Amino acid sequence: MISDSVCPSVSVVGATGYAGGELVALLARHGGVSLGPLYSGPEGARVPFPRLHRSLAGQTGPEAGPLDVDGLLEARPDAVFLATPNEVSAELAPLLLDWDPGLRVIDLSGAFRLSRAEDYPAWYGFPHPRPELLEEALYGLTEWVRGPVGSARLVANPGCYPTSVLLAVKPLLALLDAAQPVVCDCKSGASGAGRRGDVAYSFSELAGNLRPYGAGTHRHEPEMREQLGLPEDAPFVFVPHLLPTVRGLLSTVHVGFSRPVEGDEISRLYAEAYSASPLVDVWPAGTLPDLNAAVGTPRAAIGFTLLSGGRRAVLVSVIDNLLKGAASQAVQNLNLLFGLDATEGLA
Ligand SMILES: NC(=O)c1ccc[n+]([C@@H]2O[C@H](COP(=O)([O-])OP(=O)(O)OC[C@H]3O[C@@H](n4cnc5c(N)ncnc54)[C@H](OP(=O)(O)O)[C@@H]3O)[C@@H](O)[C@H]2O)c1
Repeated sequence: MISDSVCPSVSVVGATGYAGGELVALLARHGGVSLGPLYSGPEGARVPFPRLHRSLAGQTGPEAGPLDVDGLLEARPDAVFLATPNEVSAELAPLLLDWDPGLRVIDLSGAFRLSRAEDYPAWYGFPHPRPELLEEALYGLTEWVRGPVGSARLVANPGCYPTSVLLAVKPLLALLDAAQPVVCDCKSGASGAGRRGDVAYSFSELAGNLRPYGAGTHRHEPEMREQLGLPEDAPFVFVPHLLPTVRGLLSTVHVGFSRPVEGDEISRLYAEAYSASPLVDVWPAGTLPDLNAAVGTPRAAIGFTLLSGGRRAVLVSVIDNLLKGAASQAVQNLNLLFGLDATEGLA
């Protein structure tokens, strides 16, 4: 049975990572949950609670210890967050759900974001171990979740680049000219790559630099195509870049319309999409947010400028990759699953 506890107990696997640390910090001040066991990798370090995130200094809570699946299940949490690498989530989520069908799993990785198992070897580099769960998983861009979610057991938290692009483009889909490319020029702070030790992500390589990477090969591309309902041959370009900053993600999206549009029409479509979404800020026509508009917050900021007599537009969408792009989005999903206020723990 799925339990809808008033105060769900939650556990985090990957609490020692960048996204997991942010998540623990949010959950620690969330009035509607109780924080259960926290885990690093199976060979990972024990990390005292205050060291999981700088905002936890002086606070008490569970330390993070090496993953112990039996211990996790014995604690009988209502929900488990997986802030783990894709392959790890792909194995761990089914294991947890098989053991306790009433558990809710919110996965921050890409392991359950694509609906087709055959896309996993090409885009993620591994065959999907449990394709049937791809059909079951709820794609958790909460502002666009429609219908009841009461019985959802598995949530695929969206990718950081897709979050920024989808929030900006989805409200305008009906206006787009299918023959013109959607061009996504996206830039993220280096924390988007996690705590990896590669030289390519070292301070000396990134500081004072701006690096394009993964054009045409980034695994967020099929996620965006699918969520925008674009066929594989639709003209769609996604070029991510690494910014010489720690956090923050700014997407500049170029779109073409099938007829000239007015700024008021775009503003109206955004208002219809987001007037009931307390964490999405739509800027007035002709004004574009910068990185600071969202960094350090669980919010998204979206602006647009019309070009070519209203036949084209530049959309700019900004989020904090570790918050709306990961941890705070995961908390929004928890709130949704358990019927809590949308901004509980985030306002
Ligand atoms: N960073 C972002 O901006 C961002 C945004 C959206 C989504 N995501 C996704 O969120 C997930 C975590 O990303 P991150 O950036 O936080 O990565 P990260 O900093 O590298 O942290 C990874 C976490 O997973 C743990 N882990 C590694 N192998 C494990 C295993 N076999 N079993 C259990 N835990 C294991 C690590 O524990 P140890 O400390 O023991 O190594 C660490 O706590 C990834 O799937 C990523 O794609 C990240």
